[in-house]
Amino acid sequence: MTKYQSLARQLKQQIRQQIWRAGEKVPSVRACSRQSGVSTATVLQAYQLLESEGWLIAKPQSGYLVASNIRQVIATEQQDHHHSQTPLQINDLLYDVFQRTKSGDFVPFSSAFPDASLFPQQELVRSLASASRKMSDDSALTNLPPGSYELRRLIAQRYVQQGIQVMPDDLVITSGALEALNLSLQAVTQPGDYVAIESPTFYGALQTIERLKLIPIEIPASAEKGLDLDEFANQLATYPIKACWLMTNFQNPLGYTLSHEKKKQLVELLDHHDVYLVEDDVYAELYFAEDRPLPAKAFDQHHRVFLCSSFSKCLSPGFRIGWVVAGPHSEQIQRQQFLSTISSSVPAQLGISHYLRHGGYDNHLRKLRSALQMRKNEMLAAIREFFPACTQVSDPDGGYFLWLGFPPPFDCRIFYELALARQIAIAPGTLFSVRQDDLRHVRLNYSYPMTDQIRTAIQTLGQLARQCLCDDEPKHETVRSIN
Ligand SMILES: Cc1ncc(COP(=O)(O)O)c(C=O)c1O
Repeated sequence: MTKYQSLARQLKQQIRQQIWRAGEKVPSVRACSRQSGVSTATVLQAYQLLESEGWLIAKPQSGYLVASNIRQVIATEQQDHHHSQTPLQINDLLYDVFQRTKSGDFVPFSSAFPDASLFPQQELVRSLASASRKMSDDSALTNLPPGSYELRRLIAQRYVQQGIQVMPDDLVITSGALEALNLSLQAVTQPGDYVAIESPTFYGALQTIERLKLIPIEIPASAEKGLDLDEFANQLATYPIKACWLMTNFQNPLGYTLSHEKKKQLVELLDHHDVYLVEDDVYAELYFAEDRPLPAKAFDQHHRVFLCSSFSKCLSPGFRIGWVVAGPHSEQIQRQQFLSTISSSVPAQLGISHYLRHGGYDNHLRKLRSALQMRKNEMLAAIREFFPACTQVSDPDGGYFLWLGFPPPFDCRIFYELALARQIAIAPGTLFSVRQDDLRHVRLNYSYPMTDQIRTAIQTLGQLARQCLCDDEPKHETVRSIN
C-alpha cells in the first residue's frame, strides 16, 4: 500500500467513526501534512482519491468537506467489501468431513460430542417415559416458545446458584445451542454487517456467518494467551462491527478460558463500542477446577450479551435442548424461532426437566468431569509417548478437545487423508478459520477411554505426523485435498 492509500484508509476510518461528520470540513492539506508527517502532494493525492470514491467533496476556497450522503457511501462500500470476500464455503468442507467419517468404522477423534457412554442414557430414558406419561393434551401448546416454564426455572436456578441474576422469563428454550446462537446473531445483524469471531473458531460460527451473509472479522487467539483483546480493540476501532460470537470458557478448538478480569474487560469494550456479544458457553459444565467458570454474561449490565448453551455436551446430544439467556430480547428471539423451527421438542423439554429434578444431574456431572479429566491426562501421555518432539499440544482445564500444532512442512489436509485411510478421523485445522488456511493444526477429541484400539490409533497418528514432517516426497499429487 502506498503512502497516499494508507492515509486515505486512515481518513476513511476517521469518517466511519464520525470524527468528521457529513458536511464537516476535514483538515486542510497543509494541516494534514503536518499532522501525519507526509508531503502536501501525498495528502492531496489521498484527498483526490477520497473525492473520486465519493467520500469527500472539494469546495473552492474552503478545502475538502465530508460528502453529505456519507452514510450511503459507507453502506455501499460495506456491501462491495462483502461481495469481494472469498465465499467461506465452509459448509462444503464440513460436509465432506462429516460424510466421510460418520460411519462407526472410524476412531472418532474428529467428533464434536463426548463419548456417548459417559451419558446417563438409562436415567434419561426413564425420565422421558415418566414425563411423557404425564403430558397433558395441551402441553404442546403450553410449552411453545419461550418453552417449558419448569425447564426455564431449573436452568435459571443453576445460574442464580452461581451468582448470576437470570430469571425464567429471560430464557428461551431452543433446539440445541446452535439454534440459540443462530437466532441471537440473526436478531442483532443484517446481511452485510461485520461480525467478530475468534480465529480459530468453532466451525458452526463460520457456517452461520456464511448463511446469514455476514462479514467475518477474525480476532487472533491462542491456546496459551486466549483471545487477543488488544487486537480486538483495534478491530472495533477500525470496522463498524455489529456483534461478535465468542467462547469465553473452554474455547473450541483451543481450550482456553478467559480470566474474570478479561471477561470484564471484554464486556466493557463491547459497551464502549455498542456491540452485542453472542456468547457460546456450551462447555461451561465440563470444568476440571473447583468451580464452574463464570460467563461474560455475569459482567453484563446493559443486556448486550446473549448467553447460549445446551445439554448437548454434558447430558444428551440427542435431545437437542438448548437455551439463550436473552433478557429483554426474548420476544425478538421467539419471533425468529417462530419463523424457523416454531419450538423445540416438547417431550424432550419435559424429559430433561424431569431428569434435572429427579435424575441426579450434579452427581452425573461430577462423574463426567472426573472421567474427562482422567482421559485428557491419558491422551496427553500417549501423545507425548508417540508423537514427534516438535509437536505442540494444548492442556485445557475443561471440555474434551486437544489442539495439536506442528512446524512446516506439516499439512493437516495430508495428515487427515492419511489418517482416514487407516480408519482414524481427525478434525483438520482448516475447518476452523475463514480462509481454511491453517495447515499446521489438528483437533482431537480426548473423551474416549484408553483402550488398546485408542492407544494404537494414537501411535498410528504419531507415525503419520512424523511422515508428514520428515518425508521430503511431496504427497500432494496422490492425496485428495478436502477443500
Ligand atoms: C462450540 C460449540 N458451540 C455450539 C455447538 C452446538 O451445540 P448443540 O449441539 O447444543 O446445538 C457445538 C457443537 O459441536 C460446539 O462445539
